Amino acid sequence: MSTRIGFIGFGNMAGAICDGLLLSGAIAPSDIYACARDTVKLQAKCADRGINACSDAAEAARSADMIVIGVLPEQVRDVVTAIAGVLKGKPVISIAAGIDYERYVSYLGEGFNHISTIPNTPVAVGEGIIVAESKHSLTAEQLKLFEGIFGQIAKIEYFSPDLLSLGGTGAGCAPAFADVFIEALADGLVKHGMSRAQAYVIVPQMLIGTAKYMMESGKHPGELKDAVCSPGGTTIVGISALEETGFRHSVIHAVDKIMEKKHSM
Ligand SMILES: NC(=O)c1ccc[n+]([C@@H]2O[C@H](COP(=O)([O-])OP(=O)(O)OC[C@H]3O[C@@H](n4cnc5c(N)ncnc54)[C@H](OP(=O)(O)O)[C@@H]3O)[C@@H](O)[C@H]2O)c1
Repeated sequence: MSTRIGFIGFGNMAGAICDGLLLSGAIAPSDIYACARDTVKLQAKCADRGINACSDAAEAARSADMIVIGVLPEQVRDVVTAIAGVLKGKPVISIAAGIDYERYVSYLGEGFNHISTIPNTPVAVGEGIIVAESKHSLTAEQLKLFEGIFGQIAKIEYFSPDLLSLGGTGAGCAPAFADVFIEALADGLVKHGMSRAQAYVIVPQMLIGTAKYMMESGKHPGELKDAVCSPGGTTIVGISALEETGFRHSVIHAVDKIMEKKHSM
């Protein structure tokens, strides 16, 4: 029997997950249920995808076998406590950043089946990362179901509770770093005469290929970088210029600042 998924909250991230599930064929549109506060906006988003729009969270949860909590972190407590009775016994997949296993227990008490995750937007094209907390209360069967469905749109990596937020920085925040890198490299190429359109073809493909090559070859990124830098050549001049302006430090510093902000929240 196919699994019915219910999205409680259907904003950017829930929409990206839904798109990935539809694109991969993991779930049929008729098996997806969603709710949000603004019903007019919701109806339009659901009609575009051919999925079911529900009138409220209780209806979406009741209609589904697996529930995704996709509201903002500060809305999670009110939303889940209001429908606790319907959540009982069903696997609940949370995507709210910062709302970990213990926080759910503090909202719902014991006896619920939930896992806290942080996905990233590339789930929409089946190339996401889902950072998942190793401490959860899904049954073995529910976990298998979660991995079977969400594994079709993302690589799922488990982190201990103390590293979940850091995992979220690497998976959830860093796509924006990559976007800035793509834009900056394209700016450099455009500066020297390439069309913007061509720059946006070659730069993202270069990143996809580089990442895939590293993962599939199992080689260290430093080794792959060395292989491209011939002695006295042009690439090493570029690497040297990146170091002059503190490229590595900028990236590490950005992670420091994100974690500083997360720890202050
Ligand atoms: N965006 C990312 O890259 C990303 C990455 C990892 C994790 N996340 C997590 O994903 C969650 C959603 O983020 P987002 O960017 O998708 O936010 P968003 O676009 O603002 O979506 C929030 C959704 O929740 C709905 N909602 C609010 N209160 C509700 C209620 N009482 N009942 C039903 N629906 C309700 C909103 O409906 P209305 O629009 O009608 O108010 C909206 O559809 C957050 O917890 C965030 O931490 C996001």
